[in-house]
This record gives sequence, C-alpha cells and structure tokens, in this order.
Amino acid sequence: MHTTKLRIPTSQQQQLDAAIMDGAHRSPAARPPAPPRSKMKVLLLVIATNLVSVYLFSGASLSLRLPAGAAAPSIHLWDSSALLRDLGATRAALAAARAEVAALRAQCNASSLLLESVLAGLGAAHGDKPAAADRGFNGWPEEPTGELRLATEPHRLPLGFSAKLGTDELHPGVGFACRNFQDELARYMAYDAGGECPDDADALELQLILKGCEPLPRRRCRPRSPARYVEPAPLPGSLWSIPPDTTVNWSPYACKNYTCLVGRARARGGGGGSYECKDCFDLAAGGKERRRWMSDNGGPGFSIDGVLASRAPGTVRLGLDIGGGAGTFAARMRERGVTVVTTTLDVGAPFSAFVASRGLVPLQLSLAQRLPLADGVMDIVHAMQLGGWVPGAVLELALFDVYRVLRPGGVFWLDHFACHGPRLNATYAPILDRVGFRRLRWKASRKLDLGAERNEWYLSALLEKPLT
Ligand SMILES: *[C@@H]1O[C@H](CO)[C@@H](O)[C@H](O)[C@H]1NC(C)=O
Ligand SMILES: *[C@@H]1O[C@H](CO)[C@@H](O)[C@H](O)[C@H]1NC(C)=O
Ligand SMILES: *[C@@H]1O[C@H](CO)[C@@H](O)[C@H](O)[C@H]1NC(C)=O
Repeated sequence: MHTTKLRIPTSQQQQLDAAIMDGAHRSPAARPPAPPRSKMKVLLLVIATNLVSVYLFSGASLSLRLPAGAAAPSIHLWDSSALLRDLGATRAALAAARAEVAALRAQCNASSLLLESVLAGLGAAHGDKPAAADRGFNGWPEEPTGELRLATEPHRLPLGFSAKLGTDELHPGVGFACRNFQDELARYMAYDAGGECPDDADALELQLILKGCEPLPRRRCRPRSPARYVEPAPLPGSLWSIPPDTTVNWSPYACKNYTCLVGRARARGGGGGSYECKDCFDLAAGGKERRRWMSDNGGPGFSIDGVLASRAPGTVRLGLDIGGGAGTFAARMRERGVTVVTTTLDVGAPFSAFVASRGLVPLQLSLAQRLPLADGVMDIVHAMQLGGWVPGAVLELALFDVYRVLRPGGVFWLDHFACHGPRLNATYAPILDRVGFRRLRWKASRKLDLGAERNEWYLSALLEKPLT
C-alpha cells in the first residue's frame, strides 16, 4: 500500500518558517511590523495550496482497486459458484478500501497537525497571547512590571543619537538566561526605589549569576554598608593582611568572621565546595598560601618566576586570573610589577571583599560569560579553577575567549587542570590545539591527593598565542 507524504515545496516552507518566526521571536517594539494583511495573505495561500495538494494526492488514490476482470461485475443470480466468486472479489475490494481509508485518516491527521501549527503561527503573527511560554513578553514568561521592567526594557534614544548608534533604543545589558528565572529575578528586583537594598541573606544575587542570569539587571537601591566599617590598610602591607571583620556583610555566609574562615580551611584542609581554594584565607607567614607559585619543585605546577623568566623582561605587565579565589596570584604578580585582575564569585565566602581589601581588583564574573575585555589586550591569562567539571562546549568557548583577549605573543597559563586520565589526551589536549595555542611548557602528572586508585590527572601548561 502506498502512503502519501505531505510535502511542502521549499519556497513555501521558507515563507511559512519566516512567517512563524516573525511572530514568535521578534517583538513589535524591536522592529516595525510588516503589514499584517500581506502576511495573512501569504499564510492563507500556503494553507490553501497545501490543502489542495492533500486533496489531489489522496483523491488520486481513492479509486477502489478491484481484481482484474471484475471491473464491472454483473450479478450471476443463477450460478452459485459465480456468485461466490463475485462475493469474494467484492470482499477483497472492501478490505482494500478500508486500508485506503485508514491511510487517508492518517493523512488527515498529519495535515490537521500542520494546519494547527500554521494557525498558531498566524495567531502569533497577529500578537495573540501565545500558548508557549517562550513566546511571551519579549521572551519573558510573564509581563515584567515595576523595577524589573524599568531595568530590562529598551529605552528611547534622543533623535540625534539614534543614527550614530544605529539603533532607536538603548537595550539594557541583561543576561539572556534571566528570562528562565523570572520569579527569582522579580524577588531580586523587589525593593524600594531610591531606598536601601534588601538584605541578601539567601544569596539570591549569587544564585542567579551561577544559573547564568548574568549580567543582572541594575537596581536603584543602596546596599547597606557593614556596621563599623574600617578603611583598608595601605599597600603593600594590605597584600598579606587579613582585613577587619567589619569590612564585610556576613549575612549570606555560614562563617561570620575571618577567624572562622581560616579555621575552617585549616580544619578541613580545603575551602569547602568543589573549588580548590585550600587555605585561601590563611595568609599567615609560613602558611600554604604564602608558598603558592613560589617554586618549581617538581610538583604539578610552575612557579611565577619561572614563567616570567620565559618571556622577554618587562613584557608581561597586564594579566587576568580566572577564578582567582582569594587573590594570591594577583598579589604575587603585583610584587613583580604586573597588574592582574582576579575574577571571583562569592561562593561560600566573601572572596571579592577579601581580594579588594588586599588592594587587588576583583571582577565579579562567572566562567560562562564572555570576558569583558577587547581583543588582544592581555599579556597573560592564568586559570586554576578549570577542569573536567566544565562542560566541553563551555570550556572550548572559554578557551577561544582567552585566546581572543591575549595579545599576540601573550601566554595562557593553564594551572592544575584536573581531569580523568584518558580524557587528558583524548579530549582536552585536542581542544587546546584546536584553539591555536603553541605549547611552551606541558606537564601532566597524576593527582596524588585522591589516592593512586583513582586515575585523576593534573595538567599544567604554558601556552602561547602565536605572533602571527
Ligand atoms: C488521528 O489522531 C487521533 C487523535 O488525535 C488518534 O486517536 C487516531 O488514532 C489518529 N489516527 C491515525 C490513523 O493516525
Ligand atoms: C566567629 O564566628 C563564629 C561563627 O561563625 C563564632 O562562633 C566565633 O565566636 C566568632 N569569633 C570571633 C572572634 O568573633
Ligand atoms: C598522553 O600521551 C602521551 C604521549 O603523547 C603519553 O606519554 C601520556 O602518558 C598520555 N597521558 C595520559 C594521561 O594518558
């Protein structure tokens, strides 16, 4: 039995797609709408031609297939064997007809589905309230109101500027993923305009950033300063001193002072969570934080002096430390005349405030976001928090981004990249090569702190962005 597929000519399909996309993804505010009448005509034309083709295809196969020779059965009333033969033939014809009807019904189902989707598209093109959540208000499931609306909707530019900027409106830079968390975001945006920001005891801000709602919308409120705030210590002493507890608002954290954070690190041998920020806050002389990057002693990492010595003197002046924890890498670099910006997120501890009180620049940025730097500006990028936990596509995009912001001849220092042994050669080395780095140093070593039975490895690599 042959079945008829509903085929839509490509050009019609394109028109259909265009019309549906038009309604679904472009806000009326963002671009002038096409005259609805012409769109309607195109859609009706598409529907009509498809219905005709359904009819023709199905009509062509609607004739009953009778056995050969029985095309015009005459009824043999007196010949019982002939009568039986006729009856058999008619039964066969009926069965064939039933099969045809079933096929037709399936076709009708398919075409009614198509019709439904066309009508939904038509409704969206005409600004009906759509059924699907993602076709809502400029991508928001519900219409944003109040401060959320003010901070996320586009605002009209004065006439003279629109030509220069190539747009009539200024769109706030708000993370696309924020649309997926409208309830939480609405809570974050619920405050008295011009007043004090609500206390963020449940770290709503961080939760949103970690989910990819980054950048967050701006707010018109003032965060409360910590009580009895103390001004920072002067440089260079600030680099290695723990600031007073009163420089931080501790409400989102389990620890309520730096003594607790240092003690927690010492007790557990780690900063907590999945990040490798062991003893981060312990700046005591002789502590582990003081020894970091100080010697090339055959361990899994390199020393800062070793890395700087591999470049022409004075050519490493600006850097970025991705996931730089408490800022010690930047502190050591500052002692060597290199300005390093540290990306931090306050996961479990006030990293940003701590880095800042040391006199270093904390940049609140997750790994998922494009680096807010122009192409080719950095002499060095250092990253210690990367590893097998980062989804492959995110990692590859991040590495291309690192390559982008490095200047020609700049270096990417991949530090203690932790991953499962077989994937080191099979997955990660090829990604690094694909990005285009040239290997200056490459050190893979088995991770010993987990026990030898687990095949976990560290990769430390010094990679150069080629000059040409
Ligand atoms: C047509 O769709 C209905 C439900 O919409 C279903 O019950 C029926 O089995 C379908 N018929 C065929 C032939 O696919
Ligand atoms: C520090 O905070 C902890 C709780 O986080 C508390 O038990 C301890 O008494 C505090 N210590 C000081 C010196 O304030
Ligand atoms: C990766 O490949 C190199 C040879 O290219 C080999 O020496 C090394 O042991 C491999 N590493 C792992 C973790 O399998």
